[in-house]
Amino acid sequence: METKFTKLFEKGKIGRLQVKNRAVQVPMGTDFANHDGTASMRMIRYYEERAKGGVGLIINEYTGVDNVDSVPTNYMYSLAEDRHIAAAEQLTEAVHRHGALIFAQLHHGGATSNPLLSGRTSIAPSDIPASPGKPVPRPMTKEDIERVQQKFVDAAVRAKKAGYDGIELHGAHSYLIGQFFSPYYNKRTDEYGGSLDNRMRFIDEIIDRIRAELGPNYPISVRICGDEFTHDIPDTLNLDDGLAIGKHLEGKGIDVINISNGSGLNGNANCDSYSYTPGWKKHVAKAFKEQLSIPVIATNTIKNPAFAEQLLEEGVCDFVGLGRSQFADPMFVKKAREGREDEIRTCIGCMVCRERLLVHRNSLACAVNPRMGREYILGEPKKDGDGRPVAVVGGGPGGMQAALVLAERGFKVTLFEKGDVLGGTLNLADKPPHKNLIQDLINALTRQLEVAGVDVRLNADATPEMVKELSPVGVFVASGADPIRPNMPGIDSPKVVSAESVVRGEVSPKGRVAVIGTGMTGLETSEILAEAGCELTMVEMLDSVGPGIFAVILNELMGRINAYSPKILTSHRLMSITADGIELKNLEDSSDVSIPVDCVVLALGVTPRKGFVESFEAVFDNVYAIGDARKGGRIYDTMLDGYNAGYSFEP
Ligand SMILES: Cc1cc2nc3c(=O)[nH]c(=O)nc-3n(C[C@H](O)[C@H](O)[C@H](O)COP(=O)(O)O)c2cc1C
Repeated sequence: METKFTKLFEKGKIGRLQVKNRAVQVPMGTDFANHDGTASMRMIRYYEERAKGGVGLIINEYTGVDNVDSVPTNYMYSLAEDRHIAAAEQLTEAVHRHGALIFAQLHHGGATSNPLLSGRTSIAPSDIPASPGKPVPRPMTKEDIERVQQKFVDAAVRAKKAGYDGIELHGAHSYLIGQFFSPYYNKRTDEYGGSLDNRMRFIDEIIDRIRAELGPNYPISVRICGDEFTHDIPDTLNLDDGLAIGKHLEGKGIDVINISNGSGLNGNANCDSYSYTPGWKKHVAKAFKEQLSIPVIATNTIKNPAFAEQLLEEGVCDFVGLGRSQFADPMFVKKAREGREDEIRTCIGCMVCRERLLVHRNSLACAVNPRMGREYILGEPKKDGDGRPVAVVGGGPGGMQAALVLAERGFKVTLFEKGDVLGGTLNLADKPPHKNLIQDLINALTRQLEVAGVDVRLNADATPEMVKELSPVGVFVASGADPIRPNMPGIDSPKVVSAESVVRGEVSPKGRVAVIGTGMTGLETSEILAEAGCELTMVEMLDSVGPGIFAVILNELMGRINAYSPKILTSHRLMSITADGIELKNLEDSSDVSIPVDCVVLALGVTPRKGFVESFEAVFDNVYAIGDARKGGRIYDTMLDGYNAGYSFEP
């Protein structure tokens, strides 16, 4: 098949393996395994879907080699025992069915293991916690080292038995192997610490023993961090150190190196949010490609195939590592090959995936792809629409997602959008600085609707009467919500504006501005106002800013906002708006506080539009409210709501 991404679809080689193209799905923990570490049906279907989507090689998520001393989560995939082999074989078969190869990423957490789950003090090269304040591990004895090395070897043997095409040793992100690499974590004075050769001895001996067990040709990848990007923290690893490790491993005869970045002290250089410009770390992989002769796999915040192709053209790597883009759209590679790249649903770097695992201790999910991780549970949607008409009112993320699944089911879908473009609140979300990926998502969803044959009517402020003309068997109301305006003295003053109007650029406050509320919209509005030179006061009723926002995103946003030295008042409630400014109540000591301001920006969240859904319910039997029209939420909640409504609809 002709393709414009000629580099991406060139065959590649890893050792003696031929890979059908240059796209590699990099390892990403899902917590979809069963509690006993075996691959679940949910996990198998998730990987099968991505193999179907065309990647040449999947390196699956971190896979435990030791379920005694290394228990990072409750649902981690494992090859630590023989009983894990049978389900692992089902997983490799599912991937092979679609022509992709699969490696297992063998992992030991060392200091990062969770003592609350393992019931043991974690083991590590030295007594250095994974990050300051985390549990202090016990330095490994020689017996510990020997035992754990053998566990890597045994897991590699199991991987081969289960049909894996190769294994990857997880030497990145400050897990056990990486802890041995690093003078920050490794303070040993024996032959496993000190010089580079000594710090590499732990992995060297594992590689020797795997080769001895599985022969010289069983492919071995090692993932390392090319640069930890913590140059101000002594003893952490920079690019020169990374290159020295890479050269050492090449000398050891590994087949491929997988370059990540960051560390346990700096996860952002590995998995970066929308704040980073794709390409910011490509010099790291390029240095490896230039200085090593084994193939280089590298991630680089790849959100679309054109950028993947560009990286290959520039000689940054031999294989492009696709991470979160594979969550957002498992058909990324297939669509690229078929020239349908404008239908690829873009990862928006919102970090919901990380937040779910790290904060909520839940399994993985993706804000823009409600099917992700639910492939097995949902199966394919029923194809029972039979051309019957349905109406979707509102072209925001929930409405678009509902329309897509309804169209897939074979309903004749008409979507009414009162604005002149699709996207709804996404059009707000894409305005703040660094959020242009959301525009790519809107474009992709718009194109998907077009391909699905949805009749999109723009500038159509739907009324029950208009919709009635379609005689729909179902009406899905995704009309969004209105900003909350509290009833208080002075609220009707002309100096009070909504955050939404600021973000849209409809009003441009000047001078002294107070933003009330520091949720996501409040913070993004604050950034816009601070950048525009306003003298900013931020007011939050709770005791800290950014309630509910994932720390990674919050720190980035506040880092940028704090550069403008705003006045931040937490534990303060807005009581009234006066001619001079605002009156607040300090909730800690009940004192009254007056702040003189020229403009008050309300960012207090949204509430379903009163009476709108009800006006449809009065006319139709089958009315379903979706997303903000039902209850407020983030893109994740809204798109999931839209999917579920369309999926489960029984006319
Ligand atoms: C939810 C999640 C889980 C991850 N788990 C792993 C893992 O198990 N092993 C690993 O080496 N990297 C892991 N990573 C890092 C990814 O492999 C990758 O380096 C990162 O997502 C950056 O690539 P991207 O910009 O293409 O997403 C994980 C990333 C995410 C988002």
